[in-house]
Amino acid sequence: MIEKMRPEDLEEVVSIEEEAFSRPWDRDYFLNELEGKNFGEVYVDHVDGKIVSYGNVRYMFENCDLTKICVRKEYRHQGYGRKMLKHLIRKAVEKDCEFMHLEVDVNNKEAIGLYEKNRFMTMRTRKGYYENGDDAYDMVRGLINNDPKVILAIESSCDETACAIVDEDLNVLSSVVTSQIDVHARFGGVIPEVASRMHVEQISTIVKSAVDQAKIDLKDVDAIAYTIGPGLIGSLHVGGIAAKSLAFFYDKPLIGVHHLKGHIFVNEMIRPLQYPMMALVVSGGHTELVYVENDESFRIIGTTLDDAIGEAYDKVARVMKEAYPGGPVIDRLAKEGKPHYQLPTPKVDGLNFSFSGLKNAVLQLSKKEENSGNPINKNDLAYAFQETALNVLIRKTKLALEQYPCKTLVLAGGVAANSRLRQLMEENFPDIDLVLPPLKYCTDNALMIACAAHHYLKHRKFVSLDTPSMPSMSIED
Ligand code: KG4
Ligand code: ZN
Repeated sequence: MIEKMRPEDLEEVVSIEEEAFSRPWDRDYFLNELEGKNFGEVYVDHVDGKIVSYGNVRYMFENCDLTKICVRKEYRHQGYGRKMLKHLIRKAVEKDCEFMHLEVDVNNKEAIGLYEKNRFMTMRTRKGYYENGDDAYDMVRGLINNDPKVILAIESSCDETACAIVDEDLNVLSSVVTSQIDVHARFGGVIPEVASRMHVEQISTIVKSAVDQAKIDLKDVDAIAYTIGPGLIGSLHVGGIAAKSLAFFYDKPLIGVHHLKGHIFVNEMIRPLQYPMMALVVSGGHTELVYVENDESFRIIGTTLDDAIGEAYDKVARVMKEAYPGGPVIDRLAKEGKPHYQLPTPKVDGLNFSFSGLKNAVLQLSKKEENSGNPINKNDLAYAFQETALNVLIRKTKLALEQYPCKTLVLAGGVAANSRLRQLMEENFPDIDLVLPPLKYCTDNALMIACAAHHYLKHRKFVSLDTPSMPSMSIED
């Protein structure tokens, strides 16, 4: 817990300071701060009976100088620096300061990254500021109406139970995911009833570990978000009930997020998105081209007439007697494949897709080979399926961009993890701001729900405690 430094903390703070810096501040400095001689305050964070970090600020009328944040060596890279920074920002806001200002060594990339993520801007470089001759950046951020909001988000639409806590600067305070894949793999696909029961078993511990990891008190969260649809109804209900209980108990606004908006907005982890934007959404349940005019306007301009692309990957893998989920398996097999088998290219006019014909062609081909005694070459078959399917995605996306010129193109959904698709996107769209989602956030997670939820919060789009989950909700709703 972070508290103002007390006299009994002095020795420990001095010893951490001496360990961390070649030119440490001396005991008198901290003593003066304790006695309030410098219009400053030192805060210390006690964890497990130890001080893990401390921070020092000085208040000068409307300005707050952040003079130091120090994290004990063995507690670095665990979010304690960010936690202290947030606390000091909150204190400065409470004191009606309008700016926070600091100097940082230009070589301290990690600290600069932390400050930039938290909206500090570099104003100028001070040459030779430090005694060793290093330059310093002068950084500043405004504090008026500027405290980032924090959202706790829950995702449970299919077979991942997940919870994440993320502020509006997209600092990830925590992101916890458990997958039921191992269980469903035994059945070759997701069994809805089993999925719901497993969500029930997991949800409370997942939320608790997200809260613990974020080192945050639930009463300091600004809103609770959850996936309201689309997805499996039983699975959606579990996340929905958990979110509603928290929102009710802590009296927080409740945000029902469309799952695919989550897949789209997780791209903001890479960089801010510009509009109008085209989203190629490729997941286990959806294949859609979505024209996004602004963060509230989504129009489906192309969709699959039958199977989703992820579903086709999963079914083709099943034909090859490979494990669920099939996407990663086919991705791997195809890397070793050669152009050997011919598969028909799906023919659908305009911007729509169809993958069931292709899937059946794979089935027919493997039966034919089997009947004529030829062992199927799985690498080559994976290659043929993948090249055919992905080239359709690329061709339709090009067509969509011709009809709806955009500034940004994003890839979204579980199939966005596919290495060949990522490569094809890079090769085929060199002239647009192409954003590919971070690999570890392509398949379902709650961080993506939090990213989208920040847009809902900005527009104050809330749902009430009696809003039902919507298993077949459209992104246009
Ligand atoms: O978005 P997601 O996690 O769940 C849905 O919202 O549907 O997507 C899951 C889908 C599965 O069909 C899975 O096979 C596919 O994404 N997938 C992949 C890859 N990784 C996951 N497909 C192709 N290549 C991959 N590397
Ligand atoms: Zn998904």
